[in-house]
Amino acid sequence: MSQNNLTLSELKQQYSNCNLCQELCDNRIQVVFGSGKENSTVIFIGEASGASEDKQGIPFCGASGKVLQDLLATIGLTRGDVFITNTVICRPPNNRNPKKEEIENCRDRLDKTIQIIQPKVIVTVGNFATQRITGKIGITKLRGNILEVTFNSQIYKVVPVVHPASLLYNGRNSVIFDQMKKDFQTIKKVIEESII
Ligand code: URA
Repeated sequence: MSQNNLTLSELKQQYSNCNLCQELCDNRIQVVFGSGKENSTVIFIGEASGASEDKQGIPFCGASGKVLQDLLATIGLTRGDVFITNTVICRPPNNRNPKKEEIENCRDRLDKTIQIIQPKVIVTVGNFATQRITGKIGITKLRGNILEVTFNSQIYKVVPVVHPASLLYNGRNSVIFDQMKKDFQTIKKVIEESII
């Protein structure tokens, strides 16, 4: 297959030994490319792998992933119904924030992932993914909004949501969880509208 017409498994293979970010490459156990339904209507984009993801090779498989799964369940979805990946596909040491240059190094991989999956809806989980996809900053204001991005002459709906890690840092505050559930109802609505 040509470079411009890759399948998802070919893209995954291309990045399996990626060495664009020396520090991440030196510290990771493995690249966590993404998982889920390959032709899904919706793609979830998180920040970067944590320790559990780095060990298991699956995005959102730790504590944040459990919250994400619970939220998906509130709209009748499982993680197998959607595709999940991250802004940066390697674990930053000690779970530090991904650096600008790491996000840039992972840009082409994320763009190609979106191009191959062709989702109707992109859910950006947390500030890093939201800024990467929409160019906008401030998840507290942006969460639950329905935005649009044009990418490769294609329009995608984007719904930013608060990162599940924030809920965990805030002792599973029920006000935050209720807001998150509300934002997932928005995701459900946008999915339903986009497949009519
Ligand atoms: N947090 C993320 O942003 N992504 C993961 O895969 C896990 C935790």
